[in-house]
Amino acid sequence: MKTQICKIDPEVIDEDILRSAGEIIQAGGLVAFPTETVYGLGGDALNPDASRKIYAAKGRPSDNPLIVHIADLSHLTPLVKGDIPEKAKLLADHFWPGPLTMIFEKTKLVPDETSGGLPTVAVRMPSHPAAAAFITAAGGYIAAPSANLSGRPSPTEAAHVIEDLDGRVEMILDGGRVDIGLESTIVDFTEEIPIILRPGFISLEMLKEVLGEVRVDPGILSEAEEKHIRPRAPGMRYRHYAPKAPLTIVEGPEEQVIRRINALVLQYQQEGKKTGVMVSGENISRYHADVVKNMGSRSEDVTIAQSLFSALREFDSEGIDVIFSESFDTPRMGQAIMNRLLKAAGHQVIQA
Ligand code: TXA
Ligand code: MG
Repeated sequence: MKTQICKIDPEVIDEDILRSAGEIIQAGGLVAFPTETVYGLGGDALNPDASRKIYAAKGRPSDNPLIVHIADLSHLTPLVKGDIPEKAKLLADHFWPGPLTMIFEKTKLVPDETSGGLPTVAVRMPSHPAAAAFITAAGGYIAAPSANLSGRPSPTEAAHVIEDLDGRVEMILDGGRVDIGLESTIVDFTEEIPIILRPGFISLEMLKEVLGEVRVDPGILSEAEEKHIRPRAPGMRYRHYAPKAPLTIVEGPEEQVIRRINALVLQYQQEGKKTGVMVSGENISRYHADVVKNMGSRSEDVTIAQSLFSALREFDSEGIDVIFSESFDTPRMGQAIMNRLLKAAGHQVIQA
């Protein structure tokens, strides 16, 4: 398949491009598109064949459900069985359009292929103007996982999508670099007390402020791996984001972390290995690895979230043999960042 790559200006989207993207979706094809979180791999959410194609293009197991993206609040009701919970309406008021996904009991309108065989459906209304315009042009319901090959870091720019999906989708809409860089926060509303299944830009604190009581899936906490607690969201159970080189997170007091990482780097360099480190901007000049990635400032941790996935991808193309990372347990985005970083590291953590 020849993939059409179309540059778009998110603020003024070319009508012809939008129309042909919409036509591809309505004919059952696939279009990758930018959102405010990461790029999505879109197909018609109401067409089971389109969902099957999404799984095939990503190499994703078909029991891992897709998020249905909408651009208009009135499109939520037909997807949800029974009444929409009051607390979900409240969250929609506060955070939609935006980086929040909510899970409900599904109606028959949602094919089992889209929901990965589950009786529930995940719904998100993205705020990216190109995403909204594309969803509308395509008929209102777009099933979209992140637009990466299964297991790889989610794409934060079109070049990442091209790397993974060129020749596997009909069209890629290139809207430049995304804003947030980590996938949406997922909140499950199928129980009395809402529960976070995946941390993201919308933090536990922000959710508590609106809802009062909120729980966190014990399966996504850092100790879950050791305790063998399975995450509830199927996608959170898979190995994910891992670069080719082994990645180790080094935790502890700052000075000790710097010393320990530099010692490890030196040891591997003496073995002829090419080393890479992921560190905060504050400490960048203090590391002696072959490749030192400036992840951004700890005081502005949104920049760390933005650089995480592209840094992990870059190590692969730079031929790095071994990677060490500082821990980024920052106050604002720390939960979301560490959730991805720990997965990328296969939970390999050492104490300095
Ligand atoms: O920010 C995002 O959410 C991006 C952009 C493209 O919108 N999408 C995204 O999709 O991250 P994906 O497929 O890579 O991740 C969706 C996650 C998976 O872990 C999946 O298992 C979970 O959501 N999920 C989807 N439907 C679910 C359901 N009904 N119950 C539990 N988990 C569900
Ligand atoms: Mg994904």
